Amino acid sequence: MCGIVGYVGNKENCVRVLIDGLEKLEYRGYDSAGIAFLNNDNIDVVKEKGKIVNLKSKIDLNINSNLGIGHTRWATHGNATKENAHPHKVGAITVVHNGIVENYNELKKDLINKGYVFNSETDTEVVAALIDYIYKKEKDMLKTIQKVKELLTGSYALGIICDDNLDTLYTLKNKSPLIIGVNENENYIASDVPAILDKTRNYIVLEDKDYASIKSDGVKIYHDGKEKDFEVKEFLYDANSVDKQGYEHFMLKEMNEQPEVFKNTTTPYLKNGIDSLIEKMPDFTKYERIRIVACGSATHAGLVGKCMIEKYANVEVMVETASEFRYKKQFLKNDELVIVVSQSGETADTLEALLIAKQNGNDTLGIVNAKGSTIARESKMVLYTEAGQEIAVATTKAYSAQVALLSLIALNLSCKKNLIDKKEMLDILRDVKKLPDYIEELLNRRDEYKKIAEEIKDYNDVFFIGRGVDYALAQEGSLKLKEISYTHSEAYAAGELKHGTISLIEDKTPVIAVITDDDIALKTISNVKEVKSRGANVICITNKNLSNDSNLYDKKIVIPKVNDLFEPLLTVIPLQMIAYELAKLKECSIDKPRNLAKSVTVE
Ligand code: G6P
Repeated sequence: MCGIVGYVGNKENCVRVLIDGLEKLEYRGYDSAGIAFLNNDNIDVVKEKGKIVNLKSKIDLNINSNLGIGHTRWATHGNATKENAHPHKVGAITVVHNGIVENYNELKKDLINKGYVFNSETDTEVVAALIDYIYKKEKDMLKTIQKVKELLTGSYALGIICDDNLDTLYTLKNKSPLIIGVNENENYIASDVPAILDKTRNYIVLEDKDYASIKSDGVKIYHDGKEKDFEVKEFLYDANSVDKQGYEHFMLKEMNEQPEVFKNTTTPYLKNGIDSLIEKMPDFTKYERIRIVACGSATHAGLVGKCMIEKYANVEVMVETASEFRYKKQFLKNDELVIVVSQSGETADTLEALLIAKQNGNDTLGIVNAKGSTIARESKMVLYTEAGQEIAVATTKAYSAQVALLSLIALNLSCKKNLIDKKEMLDILRDVKKLPDYIEELLNRRDEYKKIAEEIKDYNDVFFIGRGVDYALAQEGSLKLKEISYTHSEAYAAGELKHGTISLIEDKTPVIAVITDDDIALKTISNVKEVKSRGANVICITNKNLSNDSNLYDKKIVIPKVNDLFEPLLTVIPLQMIAYELAKLKECSIDKPRNLAKSVTVE
């Protein structure tokens, strides 16, 4: 979490670069922000509580400066106060930090004994003091950073300025992402490329325990005391993706990109029918079992993938939450493929799960959106989702792309194992062509979603129910609703309701029932009747021709019927849109919901 940005150069106004960059990184944290910049031979530090606009209002954007670092915070150590906001300056050293330094307490005690006084509750101020202490002895920043690296445990991406070298930006990173943006006569650091995309598309990815000294005319990267070679990459995403392009929110824009994202993700694998599907994917037939590990919505995409792979490819799939997986007995078998799913490719728990699977000797596949991210680099095999840059904290298009790719894996395995007949394959290929239009048509039915949002806005609890793949989708619908509209909601396997939760159903309690799975629809309908007869206000999302029976439901959203394999990509649209319309009605901060961050780089 947290976003960091830094600049050294002669071309741009540093203060503006920092503020612009922080605005683009605000999805990583927005409870406080600050910058430190060179101003007439001094380092000035300005910080403020809350979003970047608060900080911006405190700063003269026309100050002439060539060097600076900035930070947008998602609090870990200490409350979201101005004192705890970064940058932290101790002695000659100013620091911004993304990550968690696990041994900061012992370091702090030691530094207090050495005479340091701390003004914040953060681990970052401790890092600044530690660097200052060692620098006073070493009088050489590179030697200092090399020593500091040995003393820190945990995750950190650091932007560092030293009062004695005001033409240089220093960095050090371990487990938290950091890139260096390179350009003529100027260079940048950032947590993520979008922060600097309007300045340069060329960037270097730092490896764990790398550190660098960056001047306006050059970058030097070191590892274990030795300078190392590096590769300058080019960022290939469309720069427009970091702009709202007329939409009221990034989330709305990103939902509306789903037809295109579906095409971009599936076309490479299906343009020549089965041939390209076989050719473009690794051979998965040798695995007896698949374990999908992820966090948040990516886990929900994994649950849809499980349904599809089990149904179409007859392979057992287990889905696990990465934060649980990493601290339990994993029971990984030799013939098991571990798939990690991640939009950012940086989620700390997912990355750790991947490393555990690798250490255990399992083959790993990363399903990743962010090209070249840590998870993409660490996975033995990678398949990229083609969702483009996603800015809204609540994922929509990246989730859909993950579902599409997992469904393609199911289809690939099914074809290779001769489990799918020609007719069904032709049906699927026909549906793939129609799907973008169907998604678009569903996105355009905003009046229907607004009416539902109106109906549920005064209720504190909303229940989502479904069975099989519909339960997996209900879980995503429920998560979307709570994360952006702050309305409490739960998703239940429809058959489980009567084992407790049904006691919460009162007159008009909203229940959103997902009924698409042919194999189990009748059973879900029975469960819908159970809640309806206890007074629930039932909204069905269905591809079935449900009779107009007011004893069964109060409202229905009918979605087109396509082959089961890609049906979830339609079902999820009303779920996303209801959450969006409710959040809008409640005037919530849709793109940046309270307490959340998009890229969760701490465990
Ligand atoms: C955060 C985001 C979610 C996302 C989850 C996993 O909680 O807000 O939208 O699903 O992290 O992120 P990843 O980048 O690994 O998909």
